[in-house]
Amino acid sequence: MSSERVLERRRAKVDWRPMVVIGVIASLIGIAAGLLIPWFPKAASSQAHAVDTLWYVLISISVPIFVLVATVVLFSVYRFRQRPGEELLDGPPIHGNTRLEIVWTAIPAMLLVGLCTYAFLVLHHVEKSGADQLKVRVVGQQFAWTFFYPGPNGKEISSPELYLPRGRNVEFTLQSKDVIHDFWVPAFRIKKDIVPGIDVRYSITPTVVGTYPIVCAELCGLGHAAMRGTAHVMEPAAFSSFMRRLRAGGVAGAGGGSGASSAPAPTNGKAIFTASGCTACHTLAEAGSHGTVGPNLDTGLKGKSAAFIRQSIVDPNAVITPGYQPGIMPENFAQQLPPAQLNALVQFLSSVTKGG
Ligand code: CUA
Repeated sequence: MSSERVLERRRAKVDWRPMVVIGVIASLIGIAAGLLIPWFPKAASSQAHAVDTLWYVLISISVPIFVLVATVVLFSVYRFRQRPGEELLDGPPIHGNTRLEIVWTAIPAMLLVGLCTYAFLVLHHVEKSGADQLKVRVVGQQFAWTFFYPGPNGKEISSPELYLPRGRNVEFTLQSKDVIHDFWVPAFRIKKDIVPGIDVRYSITPTVVGTYPIVCAELCGLGHAAMRGTAHVMEPAAFSSFMRRLRAGGVAGAGGGSGASSAPAPTNGKAIFTASGCTACHTLAEAGSHGTVGPNLDTGLKGKSAAFIRQSIVDPNAVITPGYQPGIMPENFAQQLPPAQLNALVQFLSSVTKGG
């Protein structure tokens, strides 16, 4: 091919119509897919709707932009590709195009400002706190959650699971005992990182009675995937009677935490086992737990002495069960648990794992 003909071909008008058609079809398919995919679990808070709508709007706007860019790039690569005989030729000189440059700067700028404003308004809306808030302190630790409710005489009552009344705004105060965790109930949509030493807060209003998973959304160690819990949204009347039972200490599984203000029964080893988060990582038939991050205690502690059990709690790296790694179990239980609770825990584990 002569260079004359090549230049001629390159100066010829390009037919953009196929590109536009392909782009429009691809955009429509992309938007349809983006809207049809069931991204979210059931929405169970008054904040969820605004968050979901924001997501769908962002999908509907960003899919066509992605398709536009990808289509223009692919079309140009195909249409203006180098053909045999053109290796040494240069393309026609380009001197810039002011109108085009203004357009491709102004449109993205307007889109960005518009979407940021919209996102900011949604954030402002979902962060609004209501009147008559229920305050719940959420404590994360490797690898379990504990929930503290305001109790009588300024004391707190702890629960290993989260219970909330429907229709009342609740403020979570998030705290961590060790590393960064992230408290997330996907059905409520909102989540925040918990940084040790800082009280992190957010509020939501549950709207649908039901049981929802709680997830830790920050990689926090080997047991991260097991750091799950359950949130129960109850009718207000059921919640009130539940709280009365919790205050009276009559709720199975709810026991003392290690907060200085709570008043756990110092002899209830099983409650201490649950509230200390042991169930998240260890299997123990007596406590109904099935954790697999750490050794199975039914078999691992069988026939072991109380002294061995105590050492395994306060100095977990002293003896490592084959197949497990050192450094996984927190080493601060001696500081977290008052001596009476530690004794009760050792006694409980010793009695339920007696050889047999
Ligand atoms: Cu806690 Cu991941």
